[in-house]
Amino acid sequence: MPVAVIIGGSAGIGQAAAMDLARRGFGVIVTYRRHPEGAADVVTAVEEWGLRAAALPLDLADASAFPAFADRVREVLSEVWDAGAFEVLVHNAGVGGAEMLGEITQERYELLHRVLLKGPVFLTQALVPMLADGGSVIYTTSTSTNAAGISPGYAVYGAMKGGLVVLTRYFAKELAPRGIRVNSVSPGPTRTRFGDDAYERFPEVVAPLAERSVFGRLGEPDDVGAVIAFLAGRESRWITGQDIDASGGYDL
Ligand SMILES: NC(=O)c1ccc[n+]([C@@H]2O[C@H](COP(=O)([O-])OP(=O)(O)OC[C@H]3O[C@@H](n4cnc5c(N)ncnc54)[C@H](OP(=O)(O)O)[C@@H]3O)[C@@H](O)[C@H]2O)c1
Repeated sequence: MPVAVIIGGSAGIGQAAAMDLARRGFGVIVTYRRHPEGAADVVTAVEEWGLRAAALPLDLADASAFPAFADRVREVLSEVWDAGAFEVLVHNAGVGGAEMLGEITQERYELLHRVLLKGPVFLTQALVPMLADGGSVIYTTSTSTNAAGISPGYAVYGAMKGGLVVLTRYFAKELAPRGIRVNSVSPGPTRTRFGDDAYERFPEVVAPLAERSVFGRLGEPDDVGAVIAFLAGRESRWITGQDIDASGGYDL
């Protein structure tokens, strides 16, 4: 059974991607940070379908823990799947929220950098030796990287995600000799707990954001999870180095 590792699989888009991948026959390893129950829900659901799944803790802000995390992934692959490699890495975890230039602190900048840019670089470095040749890496970026997707307050967040779009292209080139594809998925506003439940805490932002999609609604986690799962599978075998918009025509 092919296995997918979903970084940030305990909620929102990552949880939806994990469920979609499992429906397509992947075993899944999901990571969580503050919400182990969200990861446990994935494991329970996937096991009910007769497939295997596991959940592991990970804090992307702490790169010094990545080698030990890679060791845990190696152990779980061996114990649960009797395997030494996995086929798909979904690097989805992220934090964010609107902070104008006058508000952002150096501490907040450092956190965004560690989670959104440094984490993807060094976690990919730690895990890629275990990724099977012919595998697929998918990062989650954001429409905040596009001129049309700009909303005030997302300068640093958007810059980090823009960096991830660039990393995607370089890593696609570097990993191509092993047949590994590297792509990213760029969601627009999607109804998740993102930003410490920002859409719940500030319901007044929902309608104006929904109007910016040609379909007049926010994305749902599985709208984006399905695109991630597509990029994991054979149907997308000729796509690499691309940032795929999954925003319902945001600001089109
Ligand atoms: N929702 C949107 O409107 C939107 C739009 C564009 C892009 N995105 C991007 O989509 C991705 C998924 O976000 P989401 O909307 O699904 O948000 P979410 O519901 O808040 O889920 C975020 C996921 O990331 C994990 N995570 C957060 N901080 C982490 C850390 N320091 N270390 C490890 N894991 C961490 C969370 O784990 P725990 O819950 O267990 O802590 C959770 O699994 C992010 O990269 C985000 O930037 C979201």
